[in-house]
Amino acid sequence: MSNRADIVPVTAEHDAEWWRQAAVYQIYPRSFSDSNGDGLGDLKGITSKVPYLKELGIDAVWLSPFYPSALADGGYDVDDYRNVDPRLGTLEDFDEMAAALHAAGIKVIVDIVPNHTSNRHVWFQEALASPKGSPARARYIFRDGLGENGELPPNDWTSIFGGPAWERITEPDGTPGQWYFHLFAKEQPDLDWDNPEVHEDFIKTLRFWSDRGADGFRVDVAHALKKDMDAELPNLEHLHRADLFRNGEHPLWDRDEVHTVYSEWRKVFNEYNPPRTAVAEAWVHADRRARYASPEGLGQAFNFDLLQADFDAEQFREIIAKNLAEAAATGASSTWVFSNHDVVRHATRYGLPKGGGRRGHGQDGVDWLLEGGDPSQVDAERGLRRAKAATLLMLALPGSAYLYQGEELGLQEVGQIADEDRQDPTFFRNRGVEVGRDGCRVPLPWDAAPAEGSSFGFGSNGSHLPQPAWFADYAENVQEKDPGSTLAFYRRALALRHELQGAESLGWQDSSDDDVLHFVRPGGWHVVANFGTAPVVLPEGEVLIASAEVDGGKLPGEATVWIRAQH
Ligand code: GLC
Repeated sequence: MSNRADIVPVTAEHDAEWWRQAAVYQIYPRSFSDSNGDGLGDLKGITSKVPYLKELGIDAVWLSPFYPSALADGGYDVDDYRNVDPRLGTLEDFDEMAAALHAAGIKVIVDIVPNHTSNRHVWFQEALASPKGSPARARYIFRDGLGENGELPPNDWTSIFGGPAWERITEPDGTPGQWYFHLFAKEQPDLDWDNPEVHEDFIKTLRFWSDRGADGFRVDVAHALKKDMDAELPNLEHLHRADLFRNGEHPLWDRDEVHTVYSEWRKVFNEYNPPRTAVAEAWVHADRRARYASPEGLGQAFNFDLLQADFDAEQFREIIAKNLAEAAATGASSTWVFSNHDVVRHATRYGLPKGGGRRGHGQDGVDWLLEGGDPSQVDAERGLRRAKAATLLMLALPGSAYLYQGEELGLQEVGQIADEDRQDPTFFRNRGVEVGRDGCRVPLPWDAAPAEGSSFGFGSNGSHLPQPAWFADYAENVQEKDPGSTLAFYRRALALRHELQGAESLGWQDSSDDDVLHFVRPGGWHVVANFGTAPVVLPEGEVLIASAEVDGGKLPGEATVWIRAQH
């Protein structure tokens, strides 16, 4: 037995806090690594990359859905919540993957999609085969249509992916019948969360994955579960703007009752040791986010504020201060994110002429995609320079940092994808208004010139979304050897983050320059971020890492540095 005083035993209690400052890496399984050459990434592919993930230095992975699915919405249309898509592997492959990740010290977070099932789910199939008013229909939201023969939808609500939010079914006897509600694609019928059976089934799913080694859950559209389907909307334009409502009175979004679901789930999470964690995807008004993040609820909620901000010191400062205060008040820890599978990659957003991601969901990026997604309109070098600066700033913040696969390679969004290759339902249902999210879901380039296959080492036989030729420049095996690469930068930043992490506090330092943010973390760890273009003089100390070369004690424009102050 060691008697060294500096060894802190990892007790269950200690470990229960692992999520508070975790760096979580999002894997979009179908586009990460393909082990069997069918063009789709799979669980064995993830297992084969565990050494890569370990070296990257992340604390946890969050896996987007890998469940059986017809992929009407990239897997967010789940056929069976307690199984693995046979194209992605088996439950045994999941166990093997989870064991390999755990052995590497990496936690596993799985995605739970409670708002809707897929239309191929056994429950929905049963609902279609059962009569109106049956218990099978009562798990979903079925209504009679309006008009003489019920030929009109029950109301004029539209779905998020465009088009009506209601779909008419054919009754078992072959006649046109009732309508069901779908907030997203028509292949994603919404569940009725007033039905106790729905509650019970999701608790079963939470236990199923917790028992199999999931350490936590990412909860998809967590703010939509409870609905008032009889309500009149003040205005159809408000239908999908949860952020406009601060009083829990919107018929579809962020209703107060939704938290009864999460207090139930919290009891399940706390049955485990360490308790299972959860993070809510809830696009709600910032003042109401804390409810999702409460320790009696999910514990954490995504804060998408930085993702939606411009590359601007004042905006960043305000967002950071507000979110840290909010987290401190509730006992949650803050979350930070710039990229995920739903938005244009931040290295591209920041390289667009407007240079930001404002107007919700990175609207500048959406506009660029709509205009044709021409890479020549993106200043990729500048985009990456700013993305690295923003990321280094984020990695220095108290709270947990969510990273999206490929950002560690500095990958740009693929703006140009032929119509026939597109997969995202937002493209098909919203033609001309949105292009969809396929461009950030293109499989990763692992090898610039692979001996086998044509998918840059993603697999041996193509990739389900085509990769552009310029992906070779970002390949992992090229960056792996280059100490100046984006990958080397992420590895170093993540390693240092572990070394430096302390209490969840931050002290702002005065800066005479409006474009500069300067704060200190415990232990004299200084962070200076320069959002302007002119170089700035740095405080004295050892430069630990910088997103661009520090020369003569000066930090260049659009760059961040970490400095250990000299005592
Ligand atoms: C969430 C997911 C998104 C999906 C939607 C419907 O917003 O992140 O990818 O399309 O929910 O499940």
